[in-house]
Amino acid sequence: MLKPFTDQSPLQPQAPGWDDSLGFRYQELDAFWLARWSEKTGWEPGQLYEHQGATLELSLGANVFHYGQAVFEGLKARRTREGKIVLFRPVDNARRMRASAARLLMPAPSVSTFLEAVKTTVRVNARWVPGYGKGSLYIRPVIIGSGPVLGVAPASEYLFFVFVCPVGQYMGGDRVIVLTSAHRAAPYGTGAAKTAGNYAASLLPQRMAKEKHYVDALYLDAREDRYIEELSGANFFAVLHDGTLITPALGSILPGITRASVITVASELFGWPVVERKVSIDEVLSHAVEAFYVGTAAVLAPITVINYQGVDHPIGTGEPGPRARMLRQALEEIQLQERPDLWDWVVEL
Ligand SMILES: Cc1ncc(COP(=O)(O)O)c(C=O)c1O
Repeated sequence: MLKPFTDQSPLQPQAPGWDDSLGFRYQELDAFWLARWSEKTGWEPGQLYEHQGATLELSLGANVFHYGQAVFEGLKARRTREGKIVLFRPVDNARRMRASAARLLMPAPSVSTFLEAVKTTVRVNARWVPGYGKGSLYIRPVIIGSGPVLGVAPASEYLFFVFVCPVGQYMGGDRVIVLTSAHRAAPYGTGAAKTAGNYAASLLPQRMAKEKHYVDALYLDAREDRYIEELSGANFFAVLHDGTLITPALGSILPGITRASVITVASELFGWPVVERKVSIDEVLSHAVEAFYVGTAAVLAPITVINYQGVDHPIGTGEPGPRARMLRQALEEIQLQERPDLWDWVVEL
C-alpha cells in the first residue's frame, strides 16, 4: 500500500542516538520517492510517499519477477563537521543508472530527475542523516520492470523509487579468496551494469567465502581464469614495488565511482602512476606490496591476504599499507569538505 507523504504524515520515532549498532539493514523511515513510467506517458512526475509500512502491489506477471529487469544504485549522504549534508558525485550515479538500464532495455530517469528524487528524499529524511563521524544515510535508487509479460520481452511499465536507510561505519575484513568455481561476469555480459541479477549470482560465492572466514570472493576473468576482476561489491587495486597503482581495466567490471575517484586522487593529488590494465592474480601475488578494495560502502579497505588455490598469500608485509591509508584519508577528507574538492565532486544539499 502506498500513501502520499504529507505534512501530516506520521513520522517514525527518532532513534535515541547513533552508535556502532547501526549496521547495514533495511529500515522504514519517513518518506520515499516513487515515479511511474508507461509506454503511453513516459515518466510521470514522481512524488513522496510514506515509507512506514510501504509495500508495492505488482502483477504476478511483472517482468522483474521472471526476467529480472531491475537495476539499482547506491550512494551516501553524510554530515560534515559543520553539520552540512553532502552527497558525493551523485551525477555519476545517475549516469551509471542510465547505462545499466540501457543494457537491460529499460527506461531510466534523466540525470536531473534522478538528482531531484535523491535530494528530495534525503531532505525530507534529513533527521536520519547520522551525526559527523557516526555513519551515513545510504541512498538506494531502484528501477524495476513492473508491467506484466509472459514471453521474454521488456516490460511496458516501470517504477523508479528511492529510499534511504541510516547505516553505520563499514567494518570490512581484509582477507579475500579466489574461488575457482565462480565467475561474476563474462565479456559482453552484464558485469558493467548494476543489475540485481549480478548480485543474486554473487550470493553463493559470498557465502562460500564467508564460511571460510574471508570477507568476500575475489573474482577472476571468465575467459582465462587468470586476471582479477573485482569483489562482489567493490573494485580492486594493487600497488607494485615501484609505487605504481594497477587496477583492472573496465569491461566486465562495475565502473565504480570510488574507483574513478581513487584513480584521480592518486594521480592528480599524489602524482602516483596509475595504470588501468589486465591485472593477473600471479602478478599480484608475486609483485604487489599492497592491495585494497574500494566502493561506496567500504570507501577503501586494505587486503592483507589473498587465498588462491587453497593457499593464503600475504600481500606485501601482510599489514595494511601506507598508500591505502593515505588514499582513504584523502578521499574521506574530500567527501567531508575537509580538503579542497578540486573536481567539484561534493554536492551540498
Ligand atoms: C560489483 C561492484 N563493484 C564495485 C562497486 C563499487 O562502486 P562504487 O564505488 O560506485 O560504489 C560496487 C558498489 O556498488 C559493486 O557492487
